[in-house]
Amino acid sequence: MQHVTILDHPLAQDALTHLRDTTTTTPDFRKYSELISKLLIEEAAALLPVSKKPVTTPLTDTDGLVLREEIVLMTILRAGLSMLTPAMHLFPKAPVGFAGLARDEQTALAKEYYWKLPRITEQDTVLLLDPMLATGGSLLHVLKKIHTAKQIILITIVCAPEGIKTLTAAFPDIRIITAAVDEKLNDKKYIVPGLGDFGDRYFATE
Ligand code: PRP
Ligand code: URA
Repeated sequence: MQHVTILDHPLAQDALTHLRDTTTTTPDFRKYSELISKLLIEEAAALLPVSKKPVTTPLTDTDGLVLREEIVLMTILRAGLSMLTPAMHLFPKAPVGFAGLARDEQTALAKEYYWKLPRITEQDTVLLLDPMLATGGSLLHVLKKIHTAKQIILITIVCAPEGIKTLTAAFPDIRIITAAVDEKLNDKKYIVPGLGDFGDRYFATE
């Protein structure tokens, strides 16, 4: 799995355990989602290229490093909204795109209901935010529409092996940063052990 980085940071794994726990309250679910998202986005940022830039301090001239590429944030409604605030804190000038997708409860197939994207050029790196990668249907739908970007880094909290296989078969260059690759999907296409329906737990709509 050369495409996938699993973040084993103790704070990330502690937060993930709270997210998995069925007794976690909504305020805590939101708190731990934000914390784990921040850690995962920081891990993704470590992949970004930098270039040297001369800088003048109050004392002398020296060389610093700056991010070389423009970053575009892209989030998948609804659950991806949980990752957007930490992402915007780290990339305050990044344009943000939104894909509204919902899985049909019977078929687990994703259907698009909203699409709003900034211009994505061949120089851009897209940080794609969605906490759950299950069958891969939702993300595949998005990737097909944004593949012109120079680089796409998917940041997700829990993945199923099935979803990773689907995405990497179609987009071999994609990088995936996650806190867990779980065991499997169940017959309703939920991730096992997983954490249940992320959107419902985060937005208290169960
Ligand atoms: C969840 C999740 C992903 C999708 C993953 O969204 O946030 O977008 O399921 O499943 P897949 O890999 O099988 O496509 P959901 O459709 O439940 O919508 P929500 O975010 O509005 O709750
Ligand atoms: N979407 C979720 O929120 N959870 C899953 O386990 C699968 C898809």
